[in-house]
Amino acid sequence: MADLGCGFGWTARWMREQGAKSVLGLDLSNKMIERARADTADDAIEYRIEDLDTLTLPLAAFDLAYSALAFHYVEDFARLAQTIRKALAPGGNLIFTIEHPIFMAADNPRWTTDDKGKRTWPVSGYSLEGERRTDWFAKGVLKYHRTLATTVNTLINAGFQIRQLAEFAPSFDQIRQMPRLAEELDRPMMLIVSAST
Ligand SMILES: C[S@@+](CC[C@H](N)C(=O)[O-])C[C@H]1O[C@@H](n2cnc3c(N)ncnc32)[C@H](O)[C@@H]1O
Repeated sequence: MADLGCGFGWTARWMREQGAKSVLGLDLSNKMIERARADTADDAIEYRIEDLDTLTLPLAAFDLAYSALAFHYVEDFARLAQTIRKALAPGGNLIFTIEHPIFMAADNPRWTTDDKGKRTWPVSGYSLEGERRTDWFAKGVLKYHRTLATTVNTLINAGFQIRQLAEFAPSFDQIRQMPRLAEELDRPMMLIVSAST
């Protein structure tokens, strides 16, 4: 399998524990890859520094391509989707999460309270796709906003069949255990997509 934007490599190691024959972990960040390598003692996991915007992959080489919260940093999603589609073996799957387009549409979305004390979130410029800036670990981190339709249609145009979309929302039980999850009921922050060849 391939883990695109693998960070510290914890998913790569977990996938191996679940029985993956081999894992290729790719990330733009030298620091992430260094740490992933330092934390991994497994010859069947390879980590490589790669930019997903210029990535090339061998044809029909993977059964599963996975990515967590990395694709919204990619400018040319159409190119990446085509690259992944060709790199998957017949019957292969692509599963990924991105920041939900509703959450991403506004730069640095933060809630405010209205005059009734109710939390409100900004959704502005939803249909204006392109660069967004956010302060997250560093100031002004660059992301690329795409509408939900663009994300899904890009996958369809690359030859994927969409299997399922999920928009994470906590259960009341989860909120009881972790009250700060309540704001996840206000707007979806995360989109999870499952697609197959
Ligand atoms: C939010 S972190 C998620 C890391 C990991 N997937 C996880 O779930 O722990 C996003 C990762 O995407 C990587 N990334 C951002 N832009 C990238 C690009 N153009 N090509 C490859 N990796 C990129 C970052 O270096 C970072 O490791």
